[in-house]
Amino acid sequence: MKVLVTGAAGHVATLAMPGLQDHELRLTDMREPAHLPAGAAFHSISLLDASDDYMQRLFEGIDTVVHSAYIPSAERDVYSALPPQVDRFHAEFENIRMAQRVYRCALQAGVHRVVVVSSNHAADWYEHTQVHQRRRETVYPTDLPLSDNFYGWSKASYELLAYPYACGTFGRRMEMVMLRIGSPYPIDMSRFEPGAKPAPSGLSRPAGVAAFKRSLGAWLSDADCAALFRCAVDAPLALPHEAVPWVIAYGISDNTRAFWSLESAREVLGYSPRDDSEIVYADAVRRLLAVREPASSGRLGPPGP
Ligand SMILES: NC(=O)c1ccc[n+]([C@@H]2O[C@H](COP(=O)([O-])OP(=O)(O)OC[C@H]3O[C@@H](n4cnc5c(N)ncnc54)[C@H](O)[C@@H]3O)[C@@H](O)[C@H]2O)c1
Repeated sequence: MKVLVTGAAGHVATLAMPGLQDHELRLTDMREPAHLPAGAAFHSISLLDASDDYMQRLFEGIDTVVHSAYIPSAERDVYSALPPQVDRFHAEFENIRMAQRVYRCALQAGVHRVVVVSSNHAADWYEHTQVHQRRRETVYPTDLPLSDNFYGWSKASYELLAYPYACGTFGRRMEMVMLRIGSPYPIDMSRFEPGAKPAPSGLSRPAGVAAFKRSLGAWLSDADCAALFRCAVDAPLALPHEAVPWVIAYGISDNTRAFWSLESAREVLGYSPRDDSEIVYADAVRRLLAVREPASSGRLGPPGP
């Protein structure tokens, strides 16, 4: 297949790339990727500013799009506690406009499937108000996507924007697969050690035992990330006959402490993660989790950029 990857120089796309190696890759971003996979072609453009003609040529002949381009709406440090979320509407709205342009071009070019990189933040209200207070065990992909910040709102919005494209409203059905990525980074244990240095002023970097448990639940290993994208691009969608081909799937490893359900990732995409943070970080779990802390009163993860 011919696969177009947007945001190809970015963190998530770079992790996804090993899972896409069987395909002819066309990559695009505003900046050059550090590494170009063998045989891949790279196009340097802004998906918001490129002409319609350029976009048409970029999408021509493509079977599947992986849309990972994203404009950050805040400082690169997502733990920034600098107030407030108010000014982020316009920045995040640009991400929705970018998704709309990608979906529209994909539809016009005859693309068969769009894999949209989304985030767990699309439904982070449940985590912030229920999960860590022990009022809810698991967030499901079928829960109403509710977020308490503009970053998550934008993710939920472009997930829902994909629905009319999947329904066939615009002349044909296009398969739309949304991946709500968890935390695709190694866990930085130094944050959780007793006596860890406090975050620099202006930053609220969650620390302590409860935040460590959250990190263990949210982790996505590099290998599982590549496997998830391989499934999202390659697997026939295991959906009931005539179901709208619109899928939301969480993207985390096979973590013992998971609080997002992998149900749709496993059943619809055939994703079978192999890593478990509990095993990979077993030494730290033994060392740091011998202490009992009271249940948390709220947010433990990053507040969203
Ligand atoms: N990194 C994480 O922890 C994480 C977790 C969950 C979800 N996500 C989601 O994954 C997606 C990708 O995130 P990332 O961490 O790889 O971000 P990133 O900033 O590393 O990569 C995004 C890429 O998009 C490119 N880009 C920005 N504006 C563009 C434009 N107008 N036209 C073309 N390219 C443009 C940037 O140059 C950048 O290379 C985002 O939707 C993000 O919300 C990331």
